Amino acid sequence: MCGIFGYVNFLVDKSRGEIVDNLIEGLSRLEYRGYDSAGIAVDGDKKGDTFIVKKVGKVNALKQEIIDQKLERSTLFDCHVGIAHTRWATHGQPMTVNCHPHRSDVNNEFVVVHNGIITNYRALKTLLESKGMRFESETDSECIAKLFKHIYDTNLKAGLEVDLNELTKQVLFELEGSYGLLVKSTRYPGEVCATRKGSPLLVGVKTNRKLKVDFVDVEFPEHDAPSSNNTSGLADGSSNLGLMPVAQGDNLRTSQSRAFLADDGMPMPVEFFLSSDPASVIQHTKKVLFLEDDDIAHIYDGELHIHRAKKSSAGEATTRSIQTLEMELNEIMKGPYKHFMQKEIFEQPDSTFNTMRGRIDFKDSKINLGGIKGWLPTIRRCRRIIMIACGTSYHSCLATRSIFEELTEIPVSVELASDFLDRKSPVFRDDTCVFVSQSGETADSILALQYCLERGALTVGIVNSVGSSISRQTHCGVHINAGPEIGVASTKAYTSQYIALVMFALSLSNDSISRSPRHKEIIDGLQKIPEQIKTVLQLEDKIKQLCDDHLNSQKSLLLLGRGYQFATALEGALKIKEISYMHSEGVLAGELKHGVLALVDKDLPIIAFATKDSLFPKTMSAIEQVIARDGRPIIICNEGEKVIGMEEKTMAILEVPLTVDCLQGLLNVIPLQLMSYWLAVNRGIDVDFPRNLAKSVTVE
Ligand code: UD1
Ligand code: F6R
Repeated sequence: MCGIFGYVNFLVDKSRGEIVDNLIEGLSRLEYRGYDSAGIAVDGDKKGDTFIVKKVGKVNALKQEIIDQKLERSTLFDCHVGIAHTRWATHGQPMTVNCHPHRSDVNNEFVVVHNGIITNYRALKTLLESKGMRFESETDSECIAKLFKHIYDTNLKAGLEVDLNELTKQVLFELEGSYGLLVKSTRYPGEVCATRKGSPLLVGVKTNRKLKVDFVDVEFPEHDAPSSNNTSGLADGSSNLGLMPVAQGDNLRTSQSRAFLADDGMPMPVEFFLSSDPASVIQHTKKVLFLEDDDIAHIYDGELHIHRAKKSSAGEATTRSIQTLEMELNEIMKGPYKHFMQKEIFEQPDSTFNTMRGRIDFKDSKINLGGIKGWLPTIRRCRRIIMIACGTSYHSCLATRSIFEELTEIPVSVELASDFLDRKSPVFRDDTCVFVSQSGETADSILALQYCLERGALTVGIVNSVGSSISRQTHCGVHINAGPEIGVASTKAYTSQYIALVMFALSLSNDSISRSPRHKEIIDGLQKIPEQIKTVLQLEDKIKQLCDDHLNSQKSLLLLGRGYQFATALEGALKIKEISYMHSEGVLAGELKHGVLALVDKDLPIIAFATKDSLFPKTMSAIEQVIARDGRPIIICNEGEKVIGMEEKTMAILEVPLTVDCLQGLLNVIPLQLMSYWLAVNRGIDVDFPRNLAKSVTVE
């Protein structure tokens, strides 16, 4: 998905070469999110020049393009703004003209990088074209750059001098849709504005001196919208396209951002890193400030000012805190593994442990989830629980639905976010809506969250990325603490979400004494999970061999499961198709005889989950039906459980340790993660970047 990176140095000398290298490095840290092209903009040689370099393909291709264009590297800048972008095509093919940064005109007067979608771009484009502007790309983003110039020129003609923040505010007034946005301009050298709405953006701060305070004051406008005469000529009187320049009042640059002044009141040497993702900032600084929707961060003369695009409403925070990121750089690197996905699969003994760390008292069988503790009485009184998510996160909801219902006796429904919205499903004030998301930035899930918030429901997040939109917009929640997940295929987030949801269910039913033996059984089971995952990971060689001997050349694969294992079958099938591009389908074993059985013959590989739980006899009968049609299933069963007399009738038997029924899916999914990984590697697929997919799906 698209990524933004910006770098600002003030009173810190940097050569153009160093600035470009910083931008390229920042982009490479965003690569894991998935993208198809990249670009940068830096200052040119003459005053009023801006260089833009863009390239379709990987960040390395952009790096080569910069070398090929012989960009001069030695010029020193003591104050400079560079902006950069990785693009994932939505409007227009991956082509050089469609790459960001986009520009206002051939002189590169205003250049922007943009994440998100401008929904009224067609109307804006038509109007701007009618004013003589010539568009170069098919993107929605280009209209933002053009709009900046148009409004700037209109103000100029009216004799009005606006600063970059005010100009940005006027541009935002015309935009509909979502954005994370950086703008740089030859009209405002050394300045940048960063703003967001529905798309993440943060500012990292690096300085040798101690910051005076660990927050930045928010500066509110007096009016919601530009208010003076319309001189732009774009307005049709009725639309939002007023483009009305506004006179600057006395408040032009009167405030100071207290955090960035030295003791003598003078500006201090400072570097700012603007990014859509903390992963690209962490190697430079741990001090970051997350922007809120409608914030405009204006950086100039070594100062950072946060303005609001809109007038304040009651109760709005008047400061943004500068936080310290706890993520380490080595947490986002590959270590000894070939791919992030492999690293993340093998991290699961640690990541599952980290999800439980400090939250379970194994001695007294007690759960303490700090993030939802205060909300439990309200949740216990709710009419129903609706779990809402997409993809793998949806599967973790399916996997735990039944234990939720058993322990809480509250009806639980599980919804795919997109379908939930399509149906405009009824939601009430006494509903609890649980949003499960690794990234916390998935557009469908965020829209569903907003839908539920509007209807007054209590919202709970189960999220990996701290500071993400879902984590911040929900009333309360649990961070799963799995660490950054970089491989596009979600693996460790699944097992951690699963555990977080089980802990949530357990805390909801904490009061009930009659349930305490079941609680104890599950909590004891959870304690053993990290070690048991280590045991399952030892199956890697056997699974690799199985892929080589039987599966690499197959076109299709079925996974059979029922009860708790239906979710495992669906999740296993999703992993296989997204990474190895092999068709695969998770089938509810009870549904086999209602149609799917027609597919079964001696050639179609079938994986069946036959671990011990109350449904084991029924699963075995499904396996018998497969064998009776000459099928040779791969059976996943518990250690020592000789699925009696079946050895010679099966393709392989994979044994996993036994745990409590509701936790068995945590162990059963691991052979499938490994299988999908090796199927993909054997097919020469770039496992961390499967085609057509992005890590963080921030478009609907
Ligand atoms: C918190 C701290 C953790 C610290 C621990 C010590 C954070 C992020 N976590 O962990 O570093 O070690 O206290 O007591 O500061 N939230 C949402 N929506 C979500 C996820 C979380 O609103 O989707 C909220 C929670 O309600 C809570 C806060 O974010 O207010 C932190 O949640 P979480 O990290 O799960 O809390 P703790 O485990 O208590
Ligand atoms: C599959 C996968 C996706 C995500 C889905 C939701 O391996 O990664 O199916 O699970 O896009 O993403 P999050 O959890 O970030 O909301």
